Amino acid sequence: MKILRPFSLIIALLPFVSAQIVRADAAADAQIAKGKSLYQNCIACHQPTGLGVPTVFPPLAGSEVVNGNEEHLIRIVLHGLSGKVTVNKVIYNGNMPAFGQGLGFNWTDEKVAAVLTYVRQAWTNKSGPITKDQVTAIRTKSDRKKAWTATELEAIK
Ligand code: HEC
Repeated sequence: MKILRPFSLIIALLPFVSAQIVRADAAADAQIAKGKSLYQNCIACHQPTGLGVPTVFPPLAGSEVVNGNEEHLIRIVLHGLSGKVTVNKVIYNGNMPAFGQGLGFNWTDEKVAAVLTYVRQAWTNKSGPITKDQVTAIRTKSDRKKAWTATELEAIK
């Protein structure tokens, strides 16, 4: 009986733990669904495949930026990106518009988080979610109004 006791505790807790997991999954699914519809605003440039247009619009699928440093990624969508950037060994030199609150598309932090969570798990990407709080933290760190350059982002680390 002594051996069985921790086991029965696990059994007793199982419905509770699994209900929590189901709830968390449902919240994540809702964020991804929202992000997928917001991605319509990125499609003209980055394409439905996420592959972009070589040398003009960089890919999001398999991109080391999308799947890399979360702060850099959040800053790019909040404030935009311009000047030379290398993605998957191809050089781009264009202008990515700003989507953040008070700028270009004037999106809430929640929308920025949702679209980024979507692109980080779409196509071949397998990176974790971005939360609204992460976006808020970066946005309120400075009153940045202009697009970043890749060199500036690298200096932030
Ligand atoms: C009008 C075209 C356009 C739209 C719309 C656009 N982008 Fe971009 N995006 C670009 C360009 C051009 C670059 C490269 C900028 C440069 O060369 O400095 C870029 C770069 C990026 C990068 C960094 C490089 C990479 O490929 O990983 C990310 C991430 C990104 N965009 C995400 C998005 C997301 C998410 C959306 C929608 C919310 C979006 N973009 C909407 C044109 C666009």
